[in-house]
Amino acid sequence: MKSLELVNIRKEYGDAVAVDDMNMTIRKGELVSLLGPSGCGKTTTLRMVAGFVAPSAGSVLIDGRDVTHRPPYERNTALVFQSYALFPHMSVAQNVAFGLEMRRMPRAEREAKSLEALRRVRLDHLAERYPRQLSGGQQQRVALARGLVLNPDVFLLDEPLSNLDAKLRAEVRSEIRGLQQALELTTLMVTHDQEEALTMSDGLVLMAGGRVRQSGSAQDLYERPADAFVADFVGRSNVLEGRVEGGSFRMKDGTALPGTAVPTARYYTLRPEKIALTSPDQGVPGTLREVLYLGAQTEYTVLLGTTPVTVIRATPGPDDTLARLRPGDPVGLRWNSADARLLDS
Ligand SMILES: Nc1ncnc2c1ncn2[C@@H]1O[C@H](COP(=O)(O)OP(=O)(O)O)[C@@H](O)[C@H]1O
Ligand SMILES: [Mg+2]
Repeated sequence: MKSLELVNIRKEYGDAVAVDDMNMTIRKGELVSLLGPSGCGKTTTLRMVAGFVAPSAGSVLIDGRDVTHRPPYERNTALVFQSYALFPHMSVAQNVAFGLEMRRMPRAEREAKSLEALRRVRLDHLAERYPRQLSGGQQQRVALARGLVLNPDVFLLDEPLSNLDAKLRAEVRSEIRGLQQALELTTLMVTHDQEEALTMSDGLVLMAGGRVRQSGSAQDLYERPADAFVADFVGRSNVLEGRVEGGSFRMKDGTALPGTAVPTARYYTLRPEKIALTSPDQGVPGTLREVLYLGAQTEYTVLLGTTPVTVIRATPGPDDTLARLRPGDPVGLRWNSADARLLDS
């Protein structure tokens, strides 16, 4: 396994900039997620690493070697698509062995390697089936095996879970992470799903509009978002707009929020799980608008003035006073002002 480095990488399509001077490093054996909304340049970045798209500027380094102008087959990367892209007329084993055939590996060796890769994803017993005879999750595991069998220096995954339902997604998610760690695969995974990125990655790169907005660990992005976009995109956050008057932050409707604020602050961001729900005399007073039971947790929407604020708490037991709250009830919100982040932009 090798490291991957992107240096001022850029891609223009006519006048449009799909990827704008992007920098990123993945250390050997680490999984980094490239996260961001649809159209922000994630797939383009991945394809520049694989060599299917030529950058307009900048360079791609694999283990320090500049491969920017090398064709895909000289890079030893493996790209797994969201659509699986399996060959329908080939058996599972033939699909997995296909890349090795392209590399002119002898048949016996090909078959042994392909079976070994299928064993890694626990599908060796289905080697003779055809893709249409497999479930979506199994097809995605075949696609993973087809990448693994190449013993790639850099493993590239483009939204590998987005065609799977919620339960399978969780399963394949831990399967990918397990394999990636066991084989110490240097991996760049593209996703638009922040939960996927937070749970699977050693590092995250959050993009928007072709640019990196923030990179770091899951904790960095979650606890110390660089701006309101990051706070809103990574995890859930209340992003309350307003301005600072006399040292305290006031929302647009005039409601003052606790904590000291720098004069330039425009947004007060606060995670839903950092807010406690109490009686109106014990916190910032508001009105309960909605209660959503989510099983282990309950989500409350509280109006502070005219602004809805989301609060997430462990679901109260039947004897808890919180269990008796109904929409329309007056409530108070309390939080540690250190948990709020005031942002300029
Ligand atoms: N071959 C292409 N020609 C022109 N524009 C493209 C091409 N591929 C991608 N784009 C544009 O580049 C931007 C980034 O696309 P993409 O990398 O696919 O985004 P993502 O994977 O984050 O959804 C989009 O605006 C898209 O329309
Ligand atoms: Mg994409």
